[in-house]
Amino acid sequence: MSNTWASGFQTQREELTDVELAVEGSFPEWLTGTFISNGPGQFEVGDTQLEHWFDALAMLKRVRIGEGTVRYTNRFVRSDDFRVARDERRVRRALPGTPADGSGLRRLYQSLTGEFQDNPSIGVLKLDGDAYAVTESRCGIEIDPETLQTTGRRDLTAGLEADITLGHTHADGGTQWGLAADFGRTCAYTVFRRAPGEPPTELTRLAFDHRPPYVHAFALTEHYVVVPESSFGVDFRALLARTPLGGTFLDAFGPRGDSGAFHVLDRSTGERVAEIEAEPFLVYHFANAYERDAETIVVDCVKFTDEAAMTGLTVSNLRSDDPTLPRGDLVRFRLPLQGGRAREEQLVEGPCEFPTINYGYNGRRYEYAYLAVTDRGSLPTGIAKVAVDEPTVREWSEPGLHPGEAIFVSAPSASAEDEGVLLSLALDGANDRSVVLCLDATTLEERGRAARPHRDEPRIDRVSRTITV
Ligand SMILES: [Fe+2]
Repeated sequence: MSNTWASGFQTQREELTDVELAVEGSFPEWLTGTFISNGPGQFEVGDTQLEHWFDALAMLKRVRIGEGTVRYTNRFVRSDDFRVARDERRVRRALPGTPADGSGLRRLYQSLTGEFQDNPSIGVLKLDGDAYAVTESRCGIEIDPETLQTTGRRDLTAGLEADITLGHTHADGGTQWGLAADFGRTCAYTVFRRAPGEPPTELTRLAFDHRPPYVHAFALTEHYVVVPESSFGVDFRALLARTPLGGTFLDAFGPRGDSGAFHVLDRSTGERVAEIEAEPFLVYHFANAYERDAETIVVDCVKFTDEAAMTGLTVSNLRSDDPTLPRGDLVRFRLPLQGGRAREEQLVEGPCEFPTINYGYNGRRYEYAYLAVTDRGSLPTGIAKVAVDEPTVREWSEPGLHPGEAIFVSAPSASAEDEGVLLSLALDGANDRSVVLCLDATTLEERGRAARPHRDEPRIDRVSRTITV
């Protein structure tokens, strides 16, 4: 390999079960528990090279920390897409950048009947005591958190007028908040909430034309749900026309107007309190949002301005020595509830992604966000801590190491928002292995690391928030 990131985009087939990892330094004694991460694991199906980062077949990684030891398990999700890929060496359903194998008529039938992929590579969702690997799809694939074995399926759209649910959700006091998308006669996004053991309740339905915005996540404040209407999305008429010819979601992805917007919904009544226009944007992930006062909502997120934020993430580009990548910046939007446009302020110039916080502060005024930042190449090269009101940035990095999303874990009886550690799964590209990193969240100094015997790629999406530490 001529660069330190390309191996992160190569298939890693080895599955390990409960292997104890060698620890350098030390993990805090109070840190005991498990987290499960989801992300790309296999980049080809039979002789077909999967085209896009989001196409790769999902692999779960579980890290268990306790009594000074770190144990590791990894396993592919046995989705139908995975089984067909392994047994029949074909692409079962259209993936974002790779068409399904089969005739044009078959592809058309699949898109007309809403037969979506079930490869769940976005995250892990805990619902009613069970864990599911999820993506932007109808299906949650149930997994055993102990063994990572695939144990069942659940229709996450049951009780909703929708074709898919998004991979990112929020949890607040045991209630799950989510977004569902309907690609039927009208394209619509529905905000829903789901109390433990209950069917979902639809809160608000936001309707769009045949070119709905791409929405990947949303934000929650004390009284409001904030849904981003990005200025990029898929033209479904174009998608339908091109599907028989092998066209994909990415081929139909592009600008849908010259402005974006934020929809602010009342969490109790579902009423749309405000629709606030903004400069064009594409947002995957939010750091946080909160009500500054009765008139203004603050929304912090990583913002892109170019459709290449989606279309540029091809595997061939990402593997190359000189990749062309979109730049996302950490941005603060101020949304005036009484009307007017969103005011925008850049907090951190990117490239950066995967903003995280101490989730105990979700929806509330907060001080610190954590980011994966990139100096060069396709993968992050450092972890940054941002004091968002200043804003000031502290950074940790090591040559050749590519950290993924930093997961904040609060120390027991913490008296400060940033008292705790950051955990990150990192690719050690120089040594062809991976490590579990543990940084002090206050100082960003390394506390310890545990080396995994094989490499796997930093995840492209959020780790499960089901961590129990
Ligand atoms: Fe994501």
